[in-house]
Amino acid sequence: MKTVRLFPDASALVDGALAAVIAIIRRSIAERGSCRISLAGGSSPRSLYERLVQAEVDWSALHLFFGDERCVPPDHASSNYRMAHEALLRHVASPVAQVHRIRGELFPEEAARCYNEVLGREPLDLALLGMGRDGHTASLFPGGPELEERERWVVASRSPIEPRNRVSLSLAALNNARTVLFVVAGADKADRLALVWRELEDDAPTCPAAMVRPASGELHWYRDAAASQGGESTHTI
Ligand code: 6PG
Repeated sequence: MKTVRLFPDASALVDGALAAVIAIIRRSIAERGSCRISLAGGSSPRSLYERLVQAEVDWSALHLFFGDERCVPPDHASSNYRMAHEALLRHVASPVAQVHRIRGELFPEEAARCYNEVLGREPLDLALLGMGRDGHTASLFPGGPELEERERWVVASRSPIEPRNRVSLSLAALNNARTVLFVVAGADKADRLALVWRELEDDAPTCPAAMVRPASGELHWYRDAAASQGGESTHTI
């Protein structure tokens, strides 16, 4: 199933994303007794994570992973773990052993190898993702060789902006997820989002975000009106 939802502003987008995340968590726990989620990085998810703190979910049944990480220490200002810890993790009763940090302090290939073992091959119940202005998602960047990875679920990658060394879930991991939820806000994403809509059904997309197509899972694109000024047709995919 694929859906696209348009929200009038960033606040309504967070409300909608929060409701979707809570529903997916509850459904996963009801069906499988647990929920494996990969958290998005960057800055947009912070407000969603802050709202998630108050959610009535069984945190002891959640396993929290990361969609990607910058290769910096966990207390570094650019660390996705630090952002998630400040906004969410330190406020909820998630067992420490169930928060699976990507060890950004290691060399990228070593960190990716370790995280491949941590993540395992059980599909994620939810992959939360954002999208950069260049159409990257997680730390999968346009033209990157890691886009060709079909086996490993975690790869090292290079970003065109600092911090350049990254570790990321691969398309193989993301396209094995039971549900993928993109949350995209802001006018600076509008042009690239319009390209994503054009490429979502293409056989050879150029945009990493358009390459995320869960094989048997659900794909949801949530965006605000500002990110929808790129002229794309409002359509259900
Ligand atoms: C990262 C993220 C990345 C992010 C986009 C959007 O490590 O940067 O995982 O994929 O989702 O860059 O970032 P913003 O939400 O800050 O625009």
